[in-house]
Amino acid sequence: MLKSNMSHSQLDFDFQQIIEGSLDTNIILDNRIVVYANKACINLLGLKQKENIIGKNFDQFLHPDFHSICRQRLKRVIGYKEHAPVMEQKMIRMDGRIIDVEIMAIPYMHRNNKLMAQIVIRDITEAKKTQQLIMQKEKLSVIGELASGIVHDIRNPITSIKGFLQLLNTEFSNNRYFNIIHSEITQIEHIANELLYLAKPKETDFKVELLAEIIEESLALFGTEAFKRKINIYFKPEKYRALFVRGDKVQLKQVFVNLIKNAIEAIDKKGTIYIKIDYDATNIFASIVDNGIGIPADKIHKIGQSFFTDKTEGTGLGLMVTHHIITNHNGKIIVDSKEGIGTTFTIQLPIANIK
Ligand SMILES: Nc1ncnc2c1ncn2[C@@H]1O[C@H](COP(=O)(O)OP(=O)(O)OP(=O)(O)O)[C@@H](O)[C@H]1O
Ligand SMILES: [Mg+2]
Repeated sequence: MLKSNMSHSQLDFDFQQIIEGSLDTNIILDNRIVVYANKACINLLGLKQKENIIGKNFDQFLHPDFHSICRQRLKRVIGYKEHAPVMEQKMIRMDGRIIDVEIMAIPYMHRNNKLMAQIVIRDITEAKKTQQLIMQKEKLSVIGELASGIVHDIRNPITSIKGFLQLLNTEFSNNRYFNIIHSEITQIEHIANELLYLAKPKETDFKVELLAEIIEESLALFGTEAFKRKINIYFKPEKYRALFVRGDKVQLKQVFVNLIKNAIEAIDKKGTIYIKIDYDATNIFASIVDNGIGIPADKIHKIGQSFFTDKTEGTGLGLMVTHHIITNHNGKIIVDSKEGIGTTFTIQLPIANIK
């Protein structure tokens, strides 16, 4: 209880206890050596106890990209008693994981008259992830707006060109240029359709569907292409006649068409593509396995981002659309790839029922 003659402002607080309870990490540096750290640093850096950081050089926990800027900032704090304002940096946890942090530094005068630096650190890894997701969504909605305008304007002329080409078909079907014109127009139509999907995701029509049938129908589109390229595609739909998913058949077909097309395009010369279906109590897994060129480890994270392509005629939209559709179906896409060996794309979808 407070003594009645004592005002709140006269109370003597134990500030170390207050700092210990803070969510932000507080560290005191004496010449870059950590001489004090509060409890929050245990979570931030994944330490067993905060004593693990005491006596260590702070650089050990800071990403090398920030060593020199940190040195300059500390010089200002100690040399000129200035504040080093909040800055985004990266730190390294004990388990090697890199985290995004906001970090600031201010002068701290120790009782023995030695000037040190107080560092305040906040983990922003999760916040950054959310921010990136929002940015990706915004990027998509901008693409969507742009696309809907352009696509509506170009789809009508495309349809009319295709119609007239059809009329000329009997006369020119053996003409090399005629065939090029035809395939180029089809490519423009393909891009327009994919953009339109992003612009205005179609009304979904969810029904219980046989997954093997969807894959079989998607595969049917590639018969000639695979034969021409000497690619063997192995899929035994009859093995999977009892596996159902709930979804929009047209959209799910688009997913498998995109994945099979990518697998075919990844195979340089002769090759094989296996399609398998597996399931557990809750999910069905459909895998498309190719022995094509594979995806380099440093590119795999770009997969599914807008417009990433390394094909001269690719739009880089295929996997982005695929990703959209699968997410709308409460599913997941899992990629496993080794450069020079091949790629497996696995689509995970909730199982509808097993008959
Ligand atoms: N099975 C695969 N093997 C190797 N690389 C792949 C495979 N699937 C996708 N990729 C890589 O991912 C990129 C993006 O694929 P995505 O389907 O989104 O676009 P694209 O195939 O380039 O263009 P589009 O699908 O419009 O023709 C490809 O350019 C390719 O580099
Ligand atoms: Mg593709």
